Formats: sequence, C-alpha cells, structure tokens
Amino acid sequence: MEFFESDYFHYRNNKLYCEDLSVQELVETVDSPAYIYSKKYFTDKYKEFDEAFRKIKHKIFFACKSNFNLSVIKTFVNLGSGVDVNSEGELLRALKAGANPQNLIMSGVGKTPEEIKLAIEKDLLMIKAESEEEIFWINKIALSLNKTARVALRVNPDVDAHTHPYISTGLAENKFGVDTETAMKLFRKQNDLKNIKFTGIDMHIGSQIIKIEPFVEAANKLSELILQLKSEGIVLEHLDMGGGVGSTYNNEKTFEINDFAKSLLPIFQKMDCDVFFEPGRYLTANGGILVTKVLYNKNNHDKNFIIVDSAMNDLLRPSIYSAYHHIQPIILKNDRKNIVADIVGPVCESGDFFAKKREISESIQGEYLAIMSAGAYGMTMASNYNSRRRPIEILVDRDKYKIIRSRETFDHLFFDEPELI
Ligand code: LLP
Repeated sequence: MEFFESDYFHYRNNKLYCEDLSVQELVETVDSPAYIYSKKYFTDKYKEFDEAFRKIKHKIFFACKSNFNLSVIKTFVNLGSGVDVNSEGELLRALKAGANPQNLIMSGVGKTPEEIKLAIEKDLLMIKAESEEEIFWINKIALSLNKTARVALRVNPDVDAHTHPYISTGLAENKFGVDTETAMKLFRKQNDLKNIKFTGIDMHIGSQIIKIEPFVEAANKLSELILQLKSEGIVLEHLDMGGGVGSTYNNEKTFEINDFAKSLLPIFQKMDCDVFFEPGRYLTANGGILVTKVLYNKNNHDKNFIIVDSAMNDLLRPSIYSAYHHIQPIILKNDRKNIVADIVGPVCESGDFFAKKREISESIQGEYLAIMSAGAYGMTMASNYNSRRRPIEILVDRDKYKIIRSRETFDHLFFDEPELI
C-alpha cells in the first residue's frame, strides 16, 4: 500500500506524527473522528506563496471556504493574509477571527441584498460583482447608505482549467462572472454609477488546477482588458487571479509555486496594478487529516469492507467528486498483510465511501486510520446527515495541540428546534 508522508505528517518508529505529536496519543485523548491540522503547514505554505511573488505588489486573500475554522482563519490573518469570503457567515467568521475589513474581499454569484449591505457597511476592501443586475443593486444599496462601494468585476475568461467539471468555473458555459464584452460595457458605465468605484478585474477559473497554462491564458486575456481600459482613461487598481492552485492528493504532478510565479510575473509586470490571489486548497489541503476508527471488517460476496466511524457527512469529497485521498493506518504493523477493500462509513447510502478497491494493510477493530489531505473542503462541507455530530477539530503546533472546535453535542443537533408541535 502507498503512504503519504510530508514534513508535517510523517512516521517515526512506525507511528504517524503530526509535527511532534503522536496522532495515536492525540486521538486517544480526544476520540474519533477528528480533524487534525498542522499549524506549521499553514504557515509555511502561506510564506512560500507570498515569497514567490515578492517582486510585485501583491496580496493574498485566504479563501476561507476551504477551511473556515476561526483559529485557522486567525493563523492566516496573523501572517498578514487577507480573507476571501463567500457569504455573510464567512464574513462574520473572518471578522470574528480578527481580520480587518480592509483586508476582506467578498465573492459570490448570488449575494443577497443583506450580504451586500453588510459588506458596504463594514467597508470591505472590495466586493466582486458577477452580473449587470448585481452592479445596479450594489449601486442602489450604496446610495441608500450614502457610501461608495469598491467593486471588482468577475470576468469569465472562457478558459478550460482541465479539472473536475463540478469545480471548473472559467468556461463560457459556467454560471460565474460576466463575459469580456459585458465587462467592458459595464466598466465604461463607471461615470453613471455614482456610488460604485470600480477597483479591479477578478477571475477564478476553477479549483484543483494542476497545470500553469490555464492561469497564463486567463491572465493574458484579463491583463489585455486592463491595458485597454487604461488607454480609455479607466484605471483599475488590481487584477485578482482568484484561487485554484492544485495540491497533490495521489500522484498528480502539480506545479511548484515558484514556477507559477515565474510564468505569471512577466504578464503582471506589463500592467501597473496590484495582483491579488485567493488560494484556499493550496494553503490547507495537505495541512490536515481526518482520523477515524475501524468499527468492523467484513467480507460480502468475496469483497472486503472496512467500516469506519467517519462518514460522507464528515468528508464529502470522495462521494461527490470521486476524489482520491490516501488512507493509512496511524500505526504501521509489520505482521499485517495487505488486502483490497472498500473503506466505508456508517451512513445509509452506497455513496458513503472514502475509497473503493483500495489496497490497504489489514486493520483490526478499534485501530485508527488517517484519511490524508483533508485540510481543505473537509470540515467546511461536513453536515449532520443521519443526525451525526460533526467531528472535533485540533490544531497542532509542534508538540502542543489545541481543540479549535469541540465535537458537537446532541443538544447542538436539537437547539434550533426548541418546541414540539
Ligand atoms: N476564490 C473563489 C471565488 C472561489 O470560488 C474559490 C473556490 C477559491 C477562491 C479557492 O479555490 P482553491 O484555491 O481552494 O482551489 N469543494 C471543492 C472545491 C470547490 C472550490 C470552490 N471555489 C473540492 O472539495 O474540491
């Protein structure tokens, strides 16, 4: 069987460690299922990204939809990161985590009037508009508040990001952004929109992109728009490249962030404006694992199943994107043979699996498995399906840990249904 190891999650004497803490000891204290994150991973990745673009004026806005735990957001905020939020809830989370509104940007293809109002009231650095109707709403709401909203237009550059169709967003057929012609038409209306100041162009072409070319293609298209607008006297302050930089889950060959920078810098250097990035997964995916306990082993019609105490409600990615996550014992034992098994949860659906036909060493009831690369879009997409409580979250910092979200109690499951009728 294959293992996933890194500087942040690695085996010492056959025991999996997160930084300097034994995962077994940790999970025996806090119980399973448990999301465990490495603070050093978050820190190193942020610094790597930031450093790669040091030659230009840039800013990173952590896309907190990938991991919106308050302490995780705060970790990035403390490093100087801004935050990209996609809803009122994420905006409130970012503020609660200590982010300055001037370091916040708001995305979303369907923002409600309440969300727009809150963003304007809080003086966010920028709101991304995704349609002509939304522009007029933002202008109207800003007028009613007697304010000027800083707005970027999300442009759909019609570029194929070559990723899973559910997370590809920059093709003409996708619901996101406006096409370049509409964008130019809207930017040219700047003088009529008294309560909006257009500050930039934004894009986000998809997620888990493992090739640099789609970013280069899109950046070329959008930088041309910026230069064209400038020649017409409409000067924008920033180009927002969105997120999308892929991570290694299995054996995909992703690119190095320095090569990404090297390919993009010449394009950015031609424009005289700041560049924004909104990485989510890159900063978090391989900084987290989901630890789960083996409940049962069984063999049905010659097929092996390992049934664990975590389920699709805790980590949805395998079920909805057929996403691959390495799964490995947290204690390696030499006397175990390898088997091929489906690793599944207790939820009442055949779609509730973490891996199918996976080669894995035999494990016994009560032993723990680590589902790797679970730091992004893990807990944020978790639900209470089957009235299951969502997992605890732990942040490890060298040989210390903090519970950054406790396991839900059953009271939590009922608290918003106070009365029986
Ligand atoms: N900015 C915008 C406007 C976005 O929509 C997203 C992600 C990001 C930034 C961050 O993208 P990243 O750097 O993480 O690729 N649930 C899926 C991923 C959905 C991504 C949605 N938008 C998954 O588990 O793979």
